[in-house]
Amino acid sequence: MEGPVVAKGFEYMYILGIETSCDETSCAVVRDGCDILSNIVASQVDLHASYGGVVPEIASRAHIQKILPVLERALADADVSLDKINALAVTRGPGLIGSLLVGVETAKALSYATGKPLMAINHIASHLYAPFLSDAKERSRTELMKAKPSGKSSEVSSPSSAHRSSSGSSSELSRSGAQLGYPYLGLVVSGGHSSLVVVWEPLRYEVVGVTLDDAAGEAYDKVAKLLGLGYPGGPIIDRLAQEGDSAYVRFPRPRIRAKDFNLSFSGLKTSVMQYVRETGYERVIHDQALIRHIVASFQAAVIDCLLAKTERALAAFHLDQLAIVGGVAANSGLRAKAMERLAGIRVIIPAPILCTDNAAMVAGLAMLHYRTRNFASLTLNAQADYPLGS
Ligand code: KG4
Ligand code: ZN
Repeated sequence: MEGPVVAKGFEYMYILGIETSCDETSCAVVRDGCDILSNIVASQVDLHASYGGVVPEIASRAHIQKILPVLERALADADVSLDKINALAVTRGPGLIGSLLVGVETAKALSYATGKPLMAINHIASHLYAPFLSDAKERSRTELMKAKPSGKSSEVSSPSSAHRSSSGSSSELSRSGAQLGYPYLGLVVSGGHSSLVVVWEPLRYEVVGVTLDDAAGEAYDKVAKLLGLGYPGGPIIDRLAQEGDSAYVRFPRPRIRAKDFNLSFSGLKTSVMQYVRETGYERVIHDQALIRHIVASFQAAVIDCLLAKTERALAAFHLDQLAIVGGVAANSGLRAKAMERLAGIRVIIPAPILCTDNAAMVAGLAMLHYRTRNFASLTLNAQADYPLGS
């Protein structure tokens, strides 16, 4: 006897994604490569804050403790049982090896136990895929509200505050995916990476520029640490910079005139350090207004460098579409300036929850691997320096 006939093309494809490359334990269920049904992100910020940065051993231990509850929560939030999941996807690298291993071993165990295919995902490639995602629950809520202006939005379950979830940042999410096509330029700015990548077609990447020293997020975190502002520095500087004068100190723009697409932030960080030393450390840290001016001026220099190289790459490769991705893409100053400065370019920046590390981007990108049956074997290993495009 044949089972019920379901026309091909009308079946949904559910992929469960796992991301543990650094200090966020995340699992997500994504339907058909774009609809986020759940995206649970358990942050470890509290564990690392007192050290002023991620401590790898603490990160791996926390991943071990959190991975199964986060996985269960992702399935429950999506209202999809494990049986219904068609395939599994996990970040293989790049990232911290001890952190990556927890995700990879969990994914392999699940694949072995359920017989479901497993896909190995590159972390940078997954960031570059984030603009294609949309929040299915949020969209249905918007549709519901449109249909019934009296509003029944409470029918859509909202996440508890213990974990972050992608719900709630909808408008940008639903705007983004449909608008981006190939080829596009990706400006990848995170804590571990800063690069310019041309995505010529699905899964075909050309890295055209990289940072020669610190990543943009790393520079944010180091400057915040220097000023005693806390960890992670990016969101704190983002907030303070909004009330500062970005022209107060004219910090250098490293490599801005170099005719390539490479970036550098280490010299800028040193300039901030020198300025603080010359002004007097005690004087600076006790003057909140001055701190705001310093971080606003630092941020202006970072944004100027990022957008100058982006403009150069867009022109050189004749591209009119740009996706800004990675943790620093959550920065409100960068988001606003990119929209203002890159006139004539379609600029897509995912909602902040999809800029920082999350598993929805892993599960989404995996759909492209699934189409080509690019499955990993159970001998899969995490790889700290896993190259893009491999
Ligand atoms: O992509 P991500 O979550 O992890 C990595 O793959 O590295 O990026 C984390 C980085 C951190 O350096 C953090 O300070 C920075 O992104 N970040 C921000 C903001 N939110 C996170 N930087 C500037 N402004 C923000 N709003
Ligand atoms: Zn990342």
